[in-house]
Amino acid sequence: MKQGVPLQYISKTSYFYKSEFFVDQRVLIPRSETEILVEKACEFVSNSPMTKMRIAEVGVGTGVIGLSLLQEVENKELYYLGIDISQDAIDVFKVNHFRHAFKISGDHKVDLQIGDRLEGIEDKFDVIISNPPYIKEKDDLKLVHKQVKEFEPHVALFLPDDIYEQWFKDFFSQSNKLLNDGGIFLMEGHESHLDHLKTLAQEIFNKSVEVIKDYNDQDRFLSIRN
Ligand SMILES: C[S@@+](CC[C@H](N)C(=O)[O-])C[C@H]1O[C@@H](n2cnc3c(N)ncnc32)[C@H](O)[C@@H]1O
Repeated sequence: MKQGVPLQYISKTSYFYKSEFFVDQRVLIPRSETEILVEKACEFVSNSPMTKMRIAEVGVGTGVIGLSLLQEVENKELYYLGIDISQDAIDVFKVNHFRHAFKISGDHKVDLQIGDRLEGIEDKFDVIISNPPYIKEKDDLKLVHKQVKEFEPHVALFLPDDIYEQWFKDFFSQSNKLLNDGGIFLMEGHESHLDHLKTLAQEIFNKSVEVIKDYNDQDRFLSIRN
């Protein structure tokens, strides 16, 4: 075995939120700060007066975000659509869904789809949530730990510098179109680029955008209430 393989890839296990998830080199190792995104989504869904809600997640990876949310909410009927550009990620999600199904209300429905962000989707959602790839392939590379670069899937981490802004503009436009009135858009992002993404999101959604910090007091998430 190659030296320096992250422990999670050796044990095929990662702990996230309230559960243990299967993980291997096909997908990103979940990061603890992403739990904040789950908390925000759970809070929104639990406090909503709606009894049926529709959730879309872009970039499911292991499935930690969606499966944690589905486990946490018991008193509503949730429809969840998980999208990823990587078949490997969809396959790993399925393993985790199978393992956690007994903790997920039978009233929830889960669909998975290979896709690029929300392209081609026409149905609307009450929650759009994502931890997308958000590291610039060139500019940010020197700050990325060697172990991350070497072992984690690049599709989960990096976007080419020259399409970075357009990638998010398109994602925001798609989300703005598909977010129901009263819904929420929640996204994780890079501490160095979040302020710029906030400005873009504000222009596209034409709404005020909240920046939420992570456990290290770094700007990490965008939250937009429609
Ligand atoms: C940072 S990982 C997040 C994985 C998981 N949700 C988590 O929080 O641990 C980003 C995920 O987005 C997927 N992805 C990358 N580009 C995408 C695209 N254009 N459309 C949909 N998913 C994409 C990757 O395959 C990867 O699974």
